[in-house]
Amino acid sequence: MAPDLTKQVLTSTAETVLARRYYLKDAEGNPTETWETLCRRVAGAVAAVDREPEQVGLLRDSFFNLIYHMDFLPNSPCLMNAGTDLGQLSACFVLPIEDSMDGIFSAIRNGALVHKTGGGTGYSFSRLRSKNASVRSTQGVASGPLSFAAVFDAATETIKQGGKRRGANMGVLRVDHPDIMDFIAAKEDQSRFNNFNFSVAITDAFMQAVEEGDDYELIEPSTREVTAVLSARAVFEKIVDLAWHNGEPGVLFIDAANRANMTPQLGEFEATNPCGEQWLLPYESCNLGSINLANFVRGGEVDYTRLKHVTRIATHFLDNVIDCNRFPIPEIEEMTLKTRKIGLGIMGMHDMLIQLGIPYAGEPGRQLAATVMKFIRNTAEERSMELAADKGPFPAYDPAVNDYPARRNAALTSIQPTGTVSMIADCASGCEPYYSIVMVKHVMDGDRLILVNKYFEQIARAEGFYSEELMSRVADSGTVIGHPEIPEKWQEVFRTAQDISPEDHIRMQGILQQSGVDSSISKTINLPKSATREDVKLSYITGYRLGCKGLTVYRDGSRDSQVLNTKDSA
Ligand code: CDP
Repeated sequence: MAPDLTKQVLTSTAETVLARRYYLKDAEGNPTETWETLCRRVAGAVAAVDREPEQVGLLRDSFFNLIYHMDFLPNSPCLMNAGTDLGQLSACFVLPIEDSMDGIFSAIRNGALVHKTGGGTGYSFSRLRSKNASVRSTQGVASGPLSFAAVFDAATETIKQGGKRRGANMGVLRVDHPDIMDFIAAKEDQSRFNNFNFSVAITDAFMQAVEEGDDYELIEPSTREVTAVLSARAVFEKIVDLAWHNGEPGVLFIDAANRANMTPQLGEFEATNPCGEQWLLPYESCNLGSINLANFVRGGEVDYTRLKHVTRIATHFLDNVIDCNRFPIPEIEEMTLKTRKIGLGIMGMHDMLIQLGIPYAGEPGRQLAATVMKFIRNTAEERSMELAADKGPFPAYDPAVNDYPARRNAALTSIQPTGTVSMIADCASGCEPYYSIVMVKHVMDGDRLILVNKYFEQIARAEGFYSEELMSRVADSGTVIGHPEIPEKWQEVFRTAQDISPEDHIRMQGILQQSGVDSSISKTINLPKSATREDVKLSYITGYRLGCKGLTVYRDGSRDSQVLNTKDSA
């Protein structure tokens, strides 16, 4: 397929973001690229690792078409670094922290090398001995996971991911670690650990103890001794209380994740990447990319033929990224090449539903989202199996242990926040509903500039209910609900994140997870400011029952600024 240069129109936001962080620059800092030449750079570099020259040309053109028209966008490091000397193309890494000085400071060094290239890191602190546990060599006592986490945090603050985006870490501690109570409360003070998202790794045994009102044991990792027995409900209440307070810690359901570990022979999942969508084994990395579902509605229906075509090319693209990637350290290269994980996700899901006139909140929206995600996953798997037949399955694939057909990639799908790439593509991020439909921007001289969602404006004009006055009123009220001029159908379709009930948020995450996501999903369960701790508790329990592998709640107005999965900080 020849390159299709039908002019791609970028929004002014996209142009600004691209010029600031994505286009290559000359010595004076002026961009030397356009969207077209950036896409050529990326497509050329990622196609070049395929074998025959003729194939490379065809592949390059099809990669180019996909990215240029924003049917699919790879994660930011790929857009920034493909075809450059840096050449580090992945967004996600998980690094182990061994329980020794050498182990801890090696992890800090390795993390710094990852951040320098634009990647984010997930760490489990669960292997570290607890605070005040004995240290044999010095006859002293250990500082514990949290005091070391502060060192990781300080190191990240200094690196700043090559100046292009802020450093991001996930810090995980198992719920049965002796320091769990300190960890749960660590981010109550919002000035601390700003380069981390913290999540508690919750086990099935713990959830069962919560349900039955039982106690559970805290276990010292270095000796496997039981150090204390706590009430599971009391610990759960504390997690809920702090998450209600300001959204942290999040929870990760570690047993659900490990049940889906495709290569248990290589190790267990202990942590995810910073935004939680990708479970990885120690030293694994993963490159991500998202299909923009906003581009797949034709004639009032999902265009599955084109979606299949794009999913196949996107799968091939992400698989090739592994081969042209420059890995920050040899251990990461070795592990990543063994499992060849990719994270194919979606964005613009709400745009798709809006174009079809289906509300996000409700069974029809969920069923459609699930069907589309399953279709993408099955197509990606089919393509990965073909690539395995052609180039070989992922090297760790072992038919004696792995009871699934040979494929090229040990993981295929995850749903990312798409914090920045969705701004470039001008669509709702990941699987989230839009956050606002009409926004006010205050400009000079106290003027109000009203920004209206493109679909809403089009529909309001076509159906004759558009007026400046109404838009201004919608902006002030923060919702399309309750304005009599707006037909009820559109009030439902244009419900935003805060207008959607926590249960509807969770059910969407649950059905997407069950239907078509191998790894996990980055999603915020929005709660109104008036939500109670009981509401947060119910959200966690529902998410767990629906098979989610992790949850993040956010109660409106509960944090000074929302970290990471908002567009501002990506
Ligand atoms: O849209 P973009 O490709 O920039 O990234 P995203 O979908 O918002 O985030 C995907 C992943 O990139 C996150 O889960 C992190 O692993 C990583 N990330 C990061 O390292 N630093 C950031 N500031 C944002 C994201």
